[in-house]
Amino acid sequence: MSNQTFAQRLKIAMDRQGKKQVDLIRIAADRGVKLGKSHISQYVGGKTIPRADILRFLAETLQVDEEWLKGEESLEEHKISGLEFQDNKILGGSEMRVFKKSSKLNNVLYDVRGPVVDEASRMEEAGMQILKLNIGNPAPFGFRTPDEVIYDMRQQLTECEGYSLAQGLFSARKAIMQYAQLKKISNVSMDDIYTGNGVSELINLSMSALLDNGDEILIPSPDYPLWTACATLAGGKAVHYICDEQSDWYPDMEDIKKKITDKTKAIVIINPNNPTGALYPREILQQIVDIAREHQLMIFSDEIYDRLVMDGEEHVSIASLAPDLFCVTYSGLSKSHMIAGFRIGWMILSGNKNIARDYIEGIKMLSNMRLCSNVPAQSIVQTALGGHQSVNDYLIPGGRIYEQREYIYKALTDIPGISAVKPKAAFYIFPKIDIKKFNITDDEKFALDLLRDKKILLIHGGGFNWQQPDHFRVVYLPRIEVLKESVEKIADFFSYYHQ
Ligand SMILES: Cc1ncc(COP(=O)(O)O)c(C=O)c1O
Repeated sequence: MSNQTFAQRLKIAMDRQGKKQVDLIRIAADRGVKLGKSHISQYVGGKTIPRADILRFLAETLQVDEEWLKGEESLEEHKISGLEFQDNKILGGSEMRVFKKSSKLNNVLYDVRGPVVDEASRMEEAGMQILKLNIGNPAPFGFRTPDEVIYDMRQQLTECEGYSLAQGLFSARKAIMQYAQLKKISNVSMDDIYTGNGVSELINLSMSALLDNGDEILIPSPDYPLWTACATLAGGKAVHYICDEQSDWYPDMEDIKKKITDKTKAIVIINPNNPTGALYPREILQQIVDIAREHQLMIFSDEIYDRLVMDGEEHVSIASLAPDLFCVTYSGLSKSHMIAGFRIGWMILSGNKNIARDYIEGIKMLSNMRLCSNVPAQSIVQTALGGHQSVNDYLIPGGRIYEQREYIYKALTDIPGISAVKPKAAFYIFPKIDIKKFNITDDEKFALDLLRDKKILLIHGGGFNWQQPDHFRVVYLPRIEVLKESVEKIADFFSYYHQ
């Protein structure tokens, strides 16, 4: 972007919002964004341009489009239907209406694809190679979909041209129902199963159907941030309970109890956990059930990694311990069958459905409104859930996920100033940084500095609603050679980094 164009647009946006430099500095300080007096005057004076995170802050605060503020769109690109536009004025004419995003999005955070990732994309466009340890997408790392799944989908493709029933194909739901039986989840019929375009769509749908403005829902910290984002977008208040690193990242029961109010409707658990890799034992789940029972809470359990468990451990579905409560259990094939791109997930309603009749009506309504989920992907659920589970071979000694976990855990914890709890499931590790040693106060800055210095992309703890600037998440899906190269660079970075 050009300094001058950026400066002009910044001035236009500031005028339009009636904001002066001092206002921006104050708002930045309130939000914990580092923006000094000298920085802003340099931007306005056209002497320099901001970093990606500051640009995003300015665009959000001034309610303008980030691309526009950057000034990369030429005047040519503003020619629409024969009219010529310059910034927000029709040339020689009147003020132009600008379209802002909904204010409902103002407090929504989804940094798994956020500003650090945007900066990585810009660096890639500039020809740099970035090592990506930021997203749990198995396919690019050589994890192939089982051949049988591809074969069966191909066979059925021509029968999948139309919409299916809104909740999903009979064959898919039958297989999911049988899976629920194996997981000992009680009171599940075909009508209690909903397929979705990934678990993601169903998280959004369930939060929209549940939350009125101001309703509270307990969500773990750290979390998979889509839960917080969807609860917030639905008008609810995400109240974060702590998962305790000292206790293998298990939920802190006292913290959960402290945070329950008369507005709390539900508790979300993510088990196995993203980003920590924790797997909750039966006793921990039982304690959560006891709390939910005492306070009459619904339980939402995200179990998308339930088949990616190591060390001979067993995954227990919390719904199997709570037949008297209303539970919603989520899973899918994105991770266990390495088909994240096909978009297939499901949710299972179980337990005491009588108390949730009205909510279920809401779920049905929203499910009908999106017609159905991807039908070709539904057609292979039966194939995927039955028979030999090829993912198991990755999870035992000699298997890729197991060996990569062993490697990453040792290599990261060998770095002075870095510690970690060894993950038991999924393919993430959430190491802790000794922030005193490196004087780290801003973890997004740490992720940006690492990206710029070492061309490694990972997500800082704040991206998972973790409040201290002392963690980051590594996706250990790449092969050991790639992980080795990355960890060597990370170790070198920490040998000189000081914020
Ligand atoms: C905990 C968790 N839930 C849900 C999802 C989304 O899964 P899907 O691909 O089924 O939308 C992810 C993806 O990373 C995840 O980590």
